[in-house]
Parts: sequence; C-alpha cells; structure tokens
Amino acid sequence: MIDIHSHILPGVDDGASSMKESLHMLSMARRQGITDVFATSHYSKAFPNRDPEKLRRIRDELMSRANRPVKGPDGKIKRRRPIRIWTGQEIFYSNSVIRLLEEGKLLTLADSNYVLVEFMPSVPYSEICTAVRNLSRAGYTPVVAHAERYRCLRKGKRVEELIDLEALIQMNYRSVSGGWHDATARWCKDNLKKRNIHFMGTDMHNIGSRMPDTKEAMSWMRKHLDSTYLRQITRENALRITENKIIK
Ligand SMILES: [Fe+2]
Repeated sequence: MIDIHSHILPGVDDGASSMKESLHMLSMARRQGITDVFATSHYSKAFPNRDPEKLRRIRDELMSRANRPVKGPDGKIKRRRPIRIWTGQEIFYSNSVIRLLEEGKLLTLADSNYVLVEFMPSVPYSEICTAVRNLSRAGYTPVVAHAERYRCLRKGKRVEELIDLEALIQMNYRSVSGGWHDATARWCKDNLKKRNIHFMGTDMHNIGSRMPDTKEAMSWMRKHLDSTYLRQITRENALRITENKIIK
C-alpha cells in the first residue's frame, strides 16, 4: 500500500513530535503493508511551512534512519523491506496558494503536478469548486484531502461534480470504520461503492489517537470492492503520482 496523506515528519506541524515517534509510526505503517508514505505536513495559518528545502532535509534524514539495518534478538542483521518517503504538503487553500506554489514555496506531491488541498469542515461548496477550478487553470491537479470531512459534499452529486471539474478525491481509512449508525462511515462506504474515491490515506499524526490504522477499512473494502479498484485506491493511483502520470 501507498499512503498518500501523513504527518510523519517530526516537529513541523501537529504530527510526529520527535524522530522517535516518526520511526514508531513508520514501523506501525510498515506492519500494515505500507511501502511508501507521502509526508504531507500542513501548510496553514497555524503551521506556515514555507520552506520546502527544510522539509526535504527532514524527509531525507527520516528515510535514512527508517531504512537503517537493525539487529534481531539473535544478533543477526534483519532484512527489512525499504520504506520510501515522498515529499508533499497538505495545503490549506487560500487565494495566495497558487502564487506560493509558483514561487516554489510550497510542495506538490512528489514534485508532480498533483496538489493535496484541504479546507475548513464548514467550507461552502462554491469555495471548493473555485479552488479546484483555479488550481486546474494553473496547471495543477487538486487532490481533495479527507473529502468526508466537508459537510457540503454530503448533498446530491457534488462529489461527482468535483470529479467532473477534474478534482481527485482522498479519503481517510479511519473514516470508513463504524457501522450504519455512523453517518460519516455510511457516506464513505457509499462513495467507495460508487468508485468516487481515488486515494486512501491514513492521515497519521501520532502513535496514539491518530495512529496509522488501515485494518478495519481494509477488511470492509476487501469484502465490498472489486480487487482492481481496491488496488488502484490503495496503491496504483498514488504510484502514478510519483511518476507524474495521468489518473483517470
Ligand atoms: Fe492531514
């Protein structure tokens, strides 16, 4: 699996608080079958990360530490599958975002044309549409982060309309958990069945309340989605971002 949404870099936002916690989060993710993680640290008022080189340096350091050989209990070097960490940011959309992207002050996903964008949960639908149109016009493909969070998208065929505007849709694994009494989980399952989702992400922040947790969602998705679509949203579409290829 490839995780397109995470706050894995230490000390830059409300995600991992230390290198030790980052490494712990990565090993939890690895145990769930994640091979690649996009480090999408926040760009927002609260976390104005506008220094891509700093984020790249921290990513390099974390990736090298995560892939250091480790000794097993028998004293022998254990072979682990390497984990790749791609650069990126979760960008809180505002009018200045396109200018900052063009000035190279914000990171796209793996230096591609794809941009992970987020909004306030109470955002009006028209604002998401404007953001999608503006980003597309500027040559970027917007990926709407944790789409289940925006109340305006619960109405009618708004998700389909955003896709028609050439937005791609990301959902958090954890939001799929929960029974039919849970309106968010219900909305998630419905949109997964309609194939409106392009990427699943953990949005992991720490090793506690917001840890990487794919299990419950994966077990539901394995039962209810066909395996080709499941592969696309958990791996192949994200892989296409790393190659800057078009996703349909
Ligand atoms: Fe996030």
